[in-house]
Amino acid sequence: QARKLFDYNIVLIGFMGAGKSTISDYLSTMFAMEVVEMDQLIAEREGMSISDIFETYGEEYFRNMETNLLIEMQEKKNVIISCGGGVAMRERNVAEMKKNGRVVLLTAHPQTILDRVKDSDDRPLLNGHKNVEYIEQLMEARREKYEAAADIVVDTDNKTVLQICEDLIQKL
Ligand code: S3P
Repeated sequence: QARKLFDYNIVLIGFMGAGKSTISDYLSTMFAMEVVEMDQLIAEREGMSISDIFETYGEEYFRNMETNLLIEMQEKKNVIISCGGGVAMRERNVAEMKKNGRVVLLTAHPQTILDRVKDSDDRPLLNGHKNVEYIEQLMEARREKYEAAADIVVDTDNKTVLQICEDLIQKL
């Protein structure tokens, strides 16, 4: 059996639209690593969209699912975990991800974020708030926690996916 490339997980965090899913998919292809897309897995397990989970059970329920999933992922090694944008906001979550993961924060300017999320219809926190001022405000409110959680920071503005991955790998 081939040796695993990393004896830890790569955990991608950052604001909605920072590129977590895109970069995860690319890295997974490059390194033949499994990706765990947290939002997608939670939606699959609940059999409904993230927006419907928020609406039906409330945000707290969703946040608890995120924490449980992070704990479950500690069984794994050598996987890429693409977190939802709010995962790093809970101190408990940060502690859980750090247990066996290298935490990578992806960043982008609010305008870049807006361009990337404007056509998405499954981001309940941005419903009715798809404007640069709101994104800037929420990002600012979260910045400190994102930065505290990160082992590595990779900026994604004006870069190709390949350039972002190169930067990330170099910093790992
Ligand atoms: C959230 C980000 C979303 C999703 C949920 C809440 C957040 O994930 O988990 O809508 O609090 O920032 P993405 O970052 O993949 O959009």
